[in-house]
Amino acid sequence: MRATARAQPNIALIKYWGKRDVSRNLPAAGSISITLDELYTSMCVEFDAALPSDVLTINGVEDVSMLPRISRCLDATLGEHRDAARVSSDCNFPIAAGLASSASAFAALVVAADAAAGGGRDAAALASLAGSISGSAARSLIGGFVELQNVGDDIRIRKLCAAADWPLRVVVAVTQTEPKPLGSGDAMEISRKTSPFYSLWIEQQEHDLAAARAAIAARDFAALGTVAEHNCLKMHSVMWASRPPTIYWNSATLECMHTVRKLRSEGIDVFFTIDAGPQVKAVCTPDAEPRVRRALVTTPGVRELMATGLGGGAVVVAHE
Ligand code: DP6
Repeated sequence: MRATARAQPNIALIKYWGKRDVSRNLPAAGSISITLDELYTSMCVEFDAALPSDVLTINGVEDVSMLPRISRCLDATLGEHRDAARVSSDCNFPIAAGLASSASAFAALVVAADAAAGGGRDAAALASLAGSISGSAARSLIGGFVELQNVGDDIRIRKLCAAADWPLRVVVAVTQTEPKPLGSGDAMEISRKTSPFYSLWIEQQEHDLAAARAAIAARDFAALGTVAEHNCLKMHSVMWASRPPTIYWNSATLECMHTVRKLRSEGIDVFFTIDAGPQVKAVCTPDAEPRVRRALVTTPGVRELMATGLGGGAVVVAHE
C-alpha cells in the first residue's frame, strides 16, 4: 500500500485560463503544453488504516495548507471510504511561484495513489482525476508536446510530438521565489466574471490551438513562437483588465521579455511564455541556449536561471 511516483511540471504554450464547470474543474477551452525534464515533484503515498487522518509533508516539513486538496485528490482516486494516507512530496524547484508545481504534484499524486492501491487505471482515467484537482496537472501525465482537449463532459490528453522528436530547451528566468499572492484557480474565476476580454479569449482559443498544432507538426519554431507569445500576452491582458486586476509580473518579468525579443531580432531562435507568476520561460533551440542563458543571466532583476529539456511523463519509481 505504498508507492512513489515522479512527474515534471509542464509549461503551457497555448494556455488554460478559465473554467466551464468550477465544481468539476473542467476547463473552458483546450490547451497545449510542453512537459519539462529536470524539474520534478516526487510523491510518496502510503495508506495506513491506523492513521486517524491524512498527513502531508512537503520537502520534509509538515504542511496543512495543501492538505485539503491532497485529500480531495486521494478521495477522487480511491473513494471517500479509503484508509488515511501519509503523503510526502519532494520538489526540486520553487513551489507556488508560477512554475507549475501543482501540475507536477497532482500528476505524481494520482499515479502514486493509483499504484499504491493496486494500479489499473489507464492514462485517460488518470488524466480526468488529475484534471479534476488541477486542470494543468492532466498534461503532466504524458511527455513532450501535449494537447488537452475538451471532449463531451470530460477532458482528454494526447501527445502531439515526443520530446525526442523536437528536443527544444527551456531556460527559466526566476525573478522572484516567494509564493504568488493569488492562486491561478481564483484568479481565473475573477477573469471569467469581470474581464471584458474573457469571452473573446475563449472564442479565439481554437484558432490559436490550430496554429500551434500545425507549427508543432511542421517543427516550425518561428510559427510556434508567434502564436505562443500572442496567446500568453492575450491571457495576461484578460487578467489585467479584470476587476480587481491580476498582475503577476514584476519589472524583471518585463525586462526578460525585452531580452528575448532583442535576441530574436538578432536571429536567435527563442520565444517567451509566462504563467500565473513572475517567472519568464524562454523556449529555444539547443544551439541558441548558451546565448539565451548569457542574455537572461545579466538581465536586471533575474535571480537565478534554470534550464531543462523536454521530458517524458509521470512514472511510478517505487512500489511496495
Ligand atoms: C497560467 O492548472 O493551476 O499555468 O485547475 O485551478 O488548478 P487549476 O489551475 P491551474 O492553472 C494553470 C494556469 C496557467 C496556464 C496553463 O498551465 O495552461
